[in-house]
Amino acid sequence: MGINNSQLAPQTQSTLASTEDSTKPTVTPRHPESRLQSDWLFLLERLPANQWYSSDYAYKTSSWLNVHTNIRKRQRILRQLSEEYLMGALNWDNYRTQILQRISIYVLKLHQHHSVEDHGFFPEFVSLYPQLKAGFEILERDHVRLNALLDEMQSLNDELAKAQSEDKALADRLQANLITGTDFLSQHLTDEEDLVVPILALR
Ligand SMILES: [Fe+2]
Ligand SMILES: [Fe+2]
Repeated sequence: MGINNSQLAPQTQSTLASTEDSTKPTVTPRHPESRLQSDWLFLLERLPANQWYSSDYAYKTSSWLNVHTNIRKRQRILRQLSEEYLMGALNWDNYRTQILQRISIYVLKLHQHHSVEDHGFFPEFVSLYPQLKAGFEILERDHVRLNALLDEMQSLNDELAKAQSEDKALADRLQANLITGTDFLSQHLTDEEDLVVPILALR
């Protein structure tokens, strides 16, 4: 019943090789232009995005993810209304009627969301994981830029509320804000989820 060392050797090497591979990061941020560094992704490695909605974690992660889904949906509807007007599918009155109140609600909700994150959640998460401080600082700087875009959106909306007669240049300025906001928001929300959702799930 002796063990043949020459038969065991290849298997041992292969075990060693797989052990070495397992120390390399196997997870990457989901956004193609993510600003997240690989050494901030140790929690995402433990809980990849395909497990966020599993029954073990959804009760802790879904409220945050649903808020983000709602934000993305509101931004997408504003983009659609703006594009439909610029393509001629909506007239000026319909465009104004549909977009004015939606923008006011959206701006208010997103400002509130950023405030809760900046003053409540992010400091709490950094105290739990100080090694993620630089990552959360990126997200806080994103909020400053997003808040400026929201303020610009609201001031364009205020102009729109007063514009009884058609002002295509104003609609173009609003569309430019929405395009910039959509791209940046997508990057921000995705990076934020990669950092935050595993914290929520694993705490
Ligand atoms: Fe955020
Ligand atoms: Fe958020």
